[in-house]
Amino acid sequence: MDNSIEIENLTKVYNGKFMAVESVSLKIGRGEIYGLLGQNGAGKTTLIKMLTGVIKPTSGTAIIAGLDLNKDALKIRKITGVVPQEYTTDGDLSGRENLKLVADLYSVPRKDAEKRIETLLRMVDLYDARDRRAVEYSGGMRKRLELVCGLMNTPEVLFLDEPTLGLDVTTRENLWSYIRSIEREFHITIILTSHYLDEVDSLANELSIMDHGKIIVSGTSSDLKKSLKGDTITLKLRNDNEFKAVQDFKDAIEVKKMELGDIRIKVSNSDTVLPELMKYLSDHKISPQSINVRKPSLDEVFIEYTGRNINAEQSGKDYGKLMAMDRRAQ
Ligand SMILES: Nc1ncnc2c1ncn2[C@@H]1O[C@H](COP(=O)(O)OP(=O)(O)OP(=O)(O)O)[C@@H](O)[C@H]1O
Ligand SMILES: [Mg+2]
Repeated sequence: MDNSIEIENLTKVYNGKFMAVESVSLKIGRGEIYGLLGQNGAGKTTLIKMLTGVIKPTSGTAIIAGLDLNKDALKIRKITGVVPQEYTTDGDLSGRENLKLVADLYSVPRKDAEKRIETLLRMVDLYDARDRRAVEYSGGMRKRLELVCGLMNTPEVLFLDEPTLGLDVTTRENLWSYIRSIEREFHITIILTSHYLDEVDSLANELSIMDHGKIIVSGTSSDLKKSLKGDTITLKLRNDNEFKAVQDFKDAIEVKKMELGDIRIKVSNSDTVLPELMKYLSDHKISPQSINVRKPSLDEVFIEYTGRNINAEQSGKDYGKLMAMDRRAQ
């Protein structure tokens, strides 16, 4: 498969001192949905802003659909679509008027624009609501409008920055199906950032985990899960002596103590090993406060490679960001 995007050592230092994106290198295939997964502040938006020519990289290069970011930033803006993390549509205008504004921005000829606006509105089931003001749309409808604004210039590459942030589960799944249909109908490359594991797992062919500005690991979701080499049993123990005893459990591939004191035991197959472990614990008079068994999942992948749970400290910040979005929308 030929590449739609090739990024090499892309770096962004803010204010001459803060390294928000550090030497990111990536290859993204044409027509793929590619996921960038990372916690708040990981550097996802900064990376997208560089790739769409909104901010200049401090160093490094990227080729997007054959164009060099350092030489052809303007052309790149013409052939890429972007749906930013915050609302960009005008709440006082209707869905149709918003799309018309974007069409004018890209100098789409009037006749083509009308047709395209209708197609796009129908595509995300907003045709019947086309003349209502965007501020009266539900969160999901508004995001769908944002989504098609990013498609107005028939882009070759579409960037979606946190496309379902703060929406409820049903509305998020509903939006995923529109994203899939965009990929199918337009055969474009989609780069999606998210801190929702289920979103990236469900939509992306391949993904990278970003942490503190760096790419920690990349691959398909199933390859990353396989790289865990088995299931994880997490124990809460009472003291270090119990931890030492568990370290000698013969069926453990690895025994690790996590930051919060949880003990993570990696085993090849929990179905067969768990009864053995229970017997071992009982023989050693160890009664854990809790036992948790997990098959390989993207959550586990995230914990394995970053040492943290992606959902830690998340909800409060989400809420703050939504409030900001609401304020802008009014
Ligand atoms: N204009 C700026 N000036 C200085 N620092 C910035 C600027 N924009 C972002 N940062 C910092 O760079 C880091 C990465 O921010 P970025 O917005 O790229 O993260 P993100 O992964 O998109 O996070 P989120 O999930 O919250 O959207 C953060 O520590 C942020 O505070
Ligand atoms: Mg962001």
